Amino acid sequence: MIPAAGRGVRLGPGAPKALRALGGTPMLVHAVQAMSASRAVSLVVVVAPPGGAEEVRRLLEEHPLPERTDVLVVPGGDTRQESVRRGIEALPDGVDVVLVHDAARPLVPVGTVDAVIAAVQAGAPAVVPALPLADTVKEVEPRPDGGAEPVVGTPARARLRAVQTPQGFDRATLVRAHEAVAVEGEGATDDAGMVERLGAPVVVVPGHEEAFKVTRPLDLVLAEAVLARRRATDGDV
Ligand code: CTP
Ligand code: MG
Repeated sequence: MIPAAGRGVRLGPGAPKALRALGGTPMLVHAVQAMSASRAVSLVVVVAPPGGAEEVRRLLEEHPLPERTDVLVVPGGDTRQESVRRGIEALPDGVDVVLVHDAARPLVPVGTVDAVIAAVQAGAPAVVPALPLADTVKEVEPRPDGGAEPVVGTPARARLRAVQTPQGFDRATLVRAHEAVAVEGEGATDDAGMVERLGAPVVVVPGHEEAFKVTRPLDLVLAEAVLARRRATDGDV
């Protein structure tokens, strides 16, 4: 499932983020292609921007997927958590392993997708791809008045991981997490975190630098560069 219903406020004004072009092709199309590159993926559920389901269907018809891959498009909600919930509701019977992948991570390599699937198939109820951090992280006491924020702690960097998507789940575990955790404020930004709140185990597999999330304008520059490098080395991506 690909939540793609966000506006992309941090990217700046323009079309909904998932529909913005990368190498001439909408980011969402890259993300769908990245997931369907895995032989284990038989269905991609796209959670579309509000009012954008028809446009997404048309885009996906213009960019055919492998024959083994079916596509369903459903409208998203106000928060990512709500969008994922709508995607879950659209899952047909018989689907036992569910990956949740941000449309905003269009360049995830198929090896990462396959590693997540393999770990779920090996018995983990929830799996996240993750990378060690380059920066040291501080916890602060936020100051809404804009004043200098006091530091309250520095977790040991070696124990921290930045998590990416696709996150993989045993379907029943993901359903249970979304039933148990109510949407608060902007909602959960991480499905695995909701599983943790159930008390169920979550494990990590190696993530990939190219699975970074396109969030701010500089990320688009990086994504274009990664795509250009791939096109130069593979010929046709
Ligand atoms: N998402 C969604 N529905 C929402 C909000 C987010 O499906 N109501 C999706 C986004 O489309 C994206 C993924 O969740 O693929 C990760 O969210 P994020 O990177 O935060 O994207 P946006 O919410 O679009 O960006 P911003 O927070 O800058 O507005
Ligand atoms: Mg967001």
